[in-house]
Amino acid sequence: MPGSRVVLGVGGGVAAYKAAELARSLMEEGCRVQVVMTGAAMEFVRPLTFAALTANKVITGLFNQSSGEEMLASAVEHIAVAQENDLLAVAPATADLLAKFAHGIAGDFLTTLYLAFQGPVLLAPAMNTAMWEHPATRANLATLTKRGHSVVGPGSGLLACGTTGPGRLAEVEIITAEALRLLRPVRDLEGETVLVTAGPTREPIDPVRFISNRSSGKMGYALAEAAANRGAQVILISGPVDLAPPPGVSLIRVQTAAEMYQAVMTALPKATIVIKAAAVADYHVANVPSQKVKKSATRYSLDLEPAQDILAEIGRRKTSQLVVGFAAETQNLVAEARRKLESKNCDMVVGNLVSAAGIGFESDENEVLLVLRTGEPVQLPRAPKRRIAGQILDQVLRLRLALHTPA
Ligand code: PMT
Repeated sequence: MPGSRVVLGVGGGVAAYKAAELARSLMEEGCRVQVVMTGAAMEFVRPLTFAALTANKVITGLFNQSSGEEMLASAVEHIAVAQENDLLAVAPATADLLAKFAHGIAGDFLTTLYLAFQGPVLLAPAMNTAMWEHPATRANLATLTKRGHSVVGPGSGLLACGTTGPGRLAEVEIITAEALRLLRPVRDLEGETVLVTAGPTREPIDPVRFISNRSSGKMGYALAEAAANRGAQVILISGPVDLAPPPGVSLIRVQTAAEMYQAVMTALPKATIVIKAAAVADYHVANVPSQKVKKSATRYSLDLEPAQDILAEIGRRKTSQLVVGFAAETQNLVAEARRKLESKNCDMVVGNLVSAAGIGFESDENEVLLVLRTGEPVQLPRAPKRRIAGQILDQVLRLRLALHTPA
């Protein structure tokens, strides 16, 4: 895909020279290629070959910079490379690399990058036939396939060691085609209209003050962006946040829970999927004074009355919409998420333990528990909110299938 970024991990095998053809082939398809070589790979091919082909520096180790500043930069480079790239392709994937990936052994740049990388992984194994057929390699491969990685090849034929059988690196065109398939954006939400709410609400106390909460909108905006990228029409109803709207979404800005209620109820009939990530006020001030409240020496109490529960009303009005609520909790996550699922007539509730450090409100990462109308809860481990958003949408589609498939 033009503009896609691919990390090409090169393992130490005779087929390492073919990785140079693969790098060129990917570049001809418009990909930007970052090559990472293992120490063993450099015994077969020089980094200069890849640097010249990709017009990019080649990464050869975790700590191979000379100055202190460069060393510090290189110590976290695997994280930056993991976050910047769309695909990790490893060719040749040696028996040693497969074993290390399968068991999470991270002793060099490529194996460390593998653990930090959260996108699709393509493995093109190449090795001697006996090594390929060894039960240890088979078991490692089974682990990696189960993890969702794509394995291309190996092909069969005369190997460098003189034997004939499976073990040859797959043809470069085949590896390239699989890389392009993995890079192609998924359009599995085409035809859907996804209504997402995001951010906090602000409930006025007087003309200059309000009650609000810590929601930054990041979780809701990530969901809107992911749904739009997957082909959905997206209506994003957002409280006040500092985020730019994702491209292609229809943004409706609101301030208060009452405004969000109106906007949601107007958009609801158009929606096929509703995701309520917003942190909406549960209470608002009963009679907001029209003038600024003056400071005085006496105590001042706010008379709060319950705000309308938007999600509960969606649950009452829903026809064929699939409804996803959130539950921001500081304790009893599973029980509270399940209670909200039932009481608000949702199909899924995303349980968010907001008391845990580094996740929930404001942070770039999240870790959630999906409580479903059908089946067991699904735990999504800590990951950037964009990735969590994609996983929530995957689960929404699975749930849609389960709910519409007769038992
Ligand atoms: O915005 P970020 O900084 O990225 O943080 C993300 C988040 C923590 C806000 C998000 O992951 C999250 O948990 N959102 C739900 C916050 C919340 O209000 O939870 P709740 O348990 O109080 O509400 C349960 C559900 O009812 C939510 O779907 C909420 O949108 C909805 N609700 C609540 C009150 C109300 N008056 N109307 C509602 O619709």
